[in-house]
Amino acid sequence: MSTVDDITALILDDHAAFRRGFARLDDARDEQELLAIWDALALHLDIHAEAEESILYPHLVKHGDDGEDETADAIGDHNKIRDAIAEAKLHPVGSQQWWAAVGTARRENSEHLAEEEDEALPDFRRHASTELRAELGQRWLTFYGEHKNGRNLPFRDKDPQQYVADHR
Ligand SMILES: [Fe+2]
Ligand SMILES: [Fe+2]
Repeated sequence: MSTVDDITALILDDHAAFRRGFARLDDARDEQELLAIWDALALHLDIHAEAEESILYPHLVKHGDDGEDETADAIGDHNKIRDAIAEAKLHPVGSQQWWAAVGTARRENSEHLAEEEDEALPDFRRHASTELRAELGQRWLTFYGEHKNGRNLPFRDKDPQQYVADHR
């Protein structure tokens, strides 16, 4: 397995892109730049959560040492991030309310990335074979191809306990 095909490496690449995206907002010089950066970042965040919910967490919830709790936490975090993104869309870019919603998305995302990287992904790596990591990595890339620009993805919140019950 080359490391680029490993689903955990692909996820870490996205996480790094999110941190860079939020940092770029700090440097935007006008609303047009803010909008361009935010539109791409928000879409990427939404697609990433859907991809994890389709590909990573169905495995972790079944096989992780603490899979059910980690999964319920993650779905709850994804909901908070989705909600903040949806809230930002209700306000003019650059307005106080917009910055407040983007700030919430940033804070929730930073907390979530830490939990995912320090708890969920280590748990996953302990149980997933090299082959599975490559196979899920392949599915991850296919998912992004099939849902370019969020095509056919509803970006709806999911009930964490229901998700766990449906997938365990
Ligand atoms: Fe993630
Ligand atoms: Fe996540």
